[in-house]
Amino acid sequence: MSKIKTIGILTSGGDAPGMNAAIRAVTRAGIYNGFEIKAVYRGYEGLITGDIKPFTTENVSGIIGQGGTILKTARSKGFTTKEGRQQAYDNLVSQGIDALVVIGGNGSLTGAMLFAQEFDYCCIGLPGTIDNDLYGTDSTIGYDTTMNTIVECVDRIRDTAQSHERIFFVEVMGRDAGFLAQNSAIASGAEAAIIPEDSTNVDQLARFMERGIRKSKRSCIVIVSESPKCGAMYYADRVRNEFPDYDVRVSILGHLQRGGRPSARDRILASSTGVGAIEAIIQGQRNIMVGVRNNEVVYVPLSEAIRSDKPFDKKLIKVLDELSI
Ligand code: F6P
Repeated sequence: MSKIKTIGILTSGGDAPGMNAAIRAVTRAGIYNGFEIKAVYRGYEGLITGDIKPFTTENVSGIIGQGGTILKTARSKGFTTKEGRQQAYDNLVSQGIDALVVIGGNGSLTGAMLFAQEFDYCCIGLPGTIDNDLYGTDSTIGYDTTMNTIVECVDRIRDTAQSHERIFFVEVMGRDAGFLAQNSAIASGAEAAIIPEDSTNVDQLARFMERGIRKSKRSCIVIVSESPKCGAMYYADRVRNEFPDYDVRVSILGHLQRGGRPSARDRILASSTGVGAIEAIIQGQRNIMVGVRNNEVVYVPLSEAIRSDKPFDKKLIKVLDELSI
C-alpha cells in the first residue's frame, strides 16, 4: 500500500484543451479513492511561491468542457534553478503533499523528472500538449481538439484561396513535431504539408512544386509546421521569387489553435489518464507518464516520455501525396 495521503496537481507549459478535464479527473478520482487533493496555481511558479489550495469535487464542477486551464499555467524560469526547486520541495513538504501530478508537455515533464530524481519525490505526468510530441502515448491531451480547429480554419481559408486562385501557406504549431501539420493537411484535403520529420536532405517545396499543381487546380493549400527559420513566410517568399506567376498568401494560425472547447476525444483521454494517474499512485508507481496506446492506459517512464524521437508514421506522407493530385 502506498503511504501517500495528499496529492498535488498542477498544469504547466502551454495550455491545451482538455487540461481542465484532466484536473477534474485527477481531483475526482483522487477524492473517490480517499486522497486529499491540493491544487497548485501557475505551474511550477506556484510551487515556488506556495500558491496552493485544497480542492474539493465542487472546485472542478462544470469545467470538463472548458478550454485553457483553471489552474493557470506558466513556463517557470525559477524552477530551472536549484534554489527554485529547493523552495518548491520545501513548500510541498510544508503543505503535506506526498505526490505531484503534472499535466504538461515535454519541458514540463522533463522538469518533473529532474525534480523527482533530485528529491526522491513521486511525480506522475499526464501528457498535456497540443503538439502530440510525447513518446509512448498515441495521443496527447489537446492534440485532437487543435487538429479539428486547424481543419476548421483551413476549410475557411480554402474558400478564399479558391475564389482568388491563390497558393496559401498556412503555418500551424507543433514546436519541433509535424503531427499537427501532416494530419491536419490530410483531414483538410490540403495539397501538401511541410514538416520537420521529412526535412532531411529534401527540399520539400521543390518536391511539391516539381510535382506540379494539377492544371485544373488553380489554388492550393500548403500546411507548414512552425519553424524559427523555415516557416510559412520563408516558403511564400521562395515561391514569389522562384515561381513569380503564382499569387501567394500566408496565414499564421498562432494561438487561436490552443483555445476552445476540448473535443470529446480529448475529454475522454484526459478522463482516462487522470483516473490512471491515481491508479498509478495507488500501485506505488513513481516518475511515469500516463498515456494511452491502442486504447489501453499505459505507464511510460518519464525518461522515455520526453524522448525527442516519437515515431512519425511516414505512410502519412504517401497518403497526402497520393490524395492531393
Ligand atoms: O507546446 C505548445 C506550443 O503551443 C507549441 O506548439 C508552440 O511552439 C509553443 O507552445 C508556443 O509557446 P508560447 O505560447 O509560449 O508562445
